[in-house]
Amino acid sequence: MNQKKKYPGSMRALHWIMAILIFGQIYVGWYMTPWKDTNLINELYVWHKSFGLLIFLLVVLRLLNRWRSDPPELPESIPSLDRTLAHWAHRLIYVFIVLIPITGYILSSTYKYSSGVTFFGIDIPELLPKNDTAFAIFDRMHAILAYTMLAVLTLHVAGVIKHRFFDKNPENDVLKRML
Ligand code: HEM
Ligand code: HEM
Repeated sequence: MNQKKKYPGSMRALHWIMAILIFGQIYVGWYMTPWKDTNLINELYVWHKSFGLLIFLLVVLRLLNRWRSDPPELPESIPSLDRTLAHWAHRLIYVFIVLIPITGYILSSTYKYSSGVTFFGIDIPELLPKNDTAFAIFDRMHAILAYTMLAVLTLHVAGVIKHRFFDKNPENDVLKRML
């Protein structure tokens, strides 16, 4: 970690690509359930699985990239409570984006009427045995994790807005570092 002003370009690019994909993914997940047997909804299930797996690949890439990069420290002027909240929100978001696709894959795999899992047309094996109880548990977990992440993301964005528009110190405007 260092006192540089901006995040490296690769981290900024991955942040914004994933932000768009994740908000889209939550919206589509919410819209397509409860399931109705229409062409649109069936198509959305297929796209939701493909994009969910893509998000998983991107988060693996993002964590490796973060580990090899040198992200900037938060400015000294940020109050310590805000600093702690920001660090925990970031950690939690990473945990969510790893666990949500995994639970999605497990619920799809254990669902006895599953139409299969494909990654943009490539068949992905459903490795787990069909099991109603496991499906019910992972289906709940997937939804709870996704909507809890949305709440944490709301706090994340509220924090960014506070530091940009409500703090007296322009040094606190962390959005500049991510643009
Ligand atoms: C970061 C990635 C993902 C996010 C944010 C996400 C989000 C969501 C959300 C918000 C729902 C609706 C939950 C509800 O209201 O009950 C949902 C449902 C679903 N997700 Fe995901 N998902 C992701 C990845 C995946 C993956 C990778 C798969 C499978 C390979 C998957 C399979 C499903 C399925 C099958 C449903 C419908 C479950 C049902 O009909 O009860 N998701 N997802
Ligand atoms: C799905 C949506 C989003 C996700 C998953 C997400 C995730 C993250 C994560 C994990 C970090 C920490 C980066 C690191 O140090 O590794 C971060 C930083 C940041 N995010 Fe987001 N974010 C999202 C949306 C947004 C939005 C909409 C904004 C703008 C309003 C935003 C602004 C920022 C800024 C400014 C930082 C850098 C904070 C700092 O300087 O330390 N993010 N984001």
